[in-house]
Amino acid sequence: MRKNTLILCAVVMMLCCSCQQKSAETTEPVNENAKNTTMEDLLTRRSVRNYTDSMPPMEVIEEICKAGTYAPTGMNRQSPIIIAVTNKEMRDRLSKLNAAVMGADNDPFYGAPVVLVVLADKNVHTYIEDGSLVMGNLMNAAHALGLGSCWIHRAREVFESEEGKQILADLGIEGDYAGIGNCILGYTAGEYPQAKDRKENWVYWVK
Ligand SMILES: Cc1cc2nc3c(=O)[nH]c(=O)nc-3n(C[C@H](O)[C@H](O)[C@H](O)COP(=O)(O)O)c2cc1C
Repeated sequence: MRKNTLILCAVVMMLCCSCQQKSAETTEPVNENAKNTTMEDLLTRRSVRNYTDSMPPMEVIEEICKAGTYAPTGMNRQSPIIIAVTNKEMRDRLSKLNAAVMGADNDPFYGAPVVLVVLADKNVHTYIEDGSLVMGNLMNAAHALGLGSCWIHRAREVFESEEGKQILADLGIEGDYAGIGNCILGYTAGEYPQAKDRKENWVYWVK
């Protein structure tokens, strides 16, 4: 009887240990190397302002959009939307509208063949933060997948204009959307830009 009790205790203890080990395992990073790659991507992404004409594969653009949709949003309201433009006519139209905001007639998209326009629902009070985080995800994902990218501003003014509003209506996009940013994408032409030095006093520690 005593021997049986001892065996039972041993089995229970073994089970407990194995459960604890499992839960510890699941909180550890699945892949140490993946973690370092993420850090490297975050530190080496740069704004690219020189592109080849080549269209990146649609699957890669879809992956980048997917990364955008997984950005955090206030109360998970998911206020932003992405208009993924690979159509040259629409890309050129958006470029012209963007240049017009500056009173210019150059291509503010630097020849990039793809534009991911991020807009967000103005009725959600975190819409600017939500949309900006989507922009960050798009640019970092693009870099991780081997494409150049850059945030191009003036989406707000473009989609406040009559033509901008008409574009949304023609696409069947209804609602109170404000332009947050344009993430241009493509293959980098020429040298990859280097990061400028970081300013002093970026981080104030309180230890
Ligand atoms: C809100 C915002 C607006 C920007 N607008 C433009 C723009 O209109 N045109 C441009 O060439 N770069 C634009 N940029 C890119 C910045 O100039 C760039 O991020 C900055 O110079 C730092 O360079 P890095 O991204 O290579 O680190 C913008 C960036 C942000 C965050």
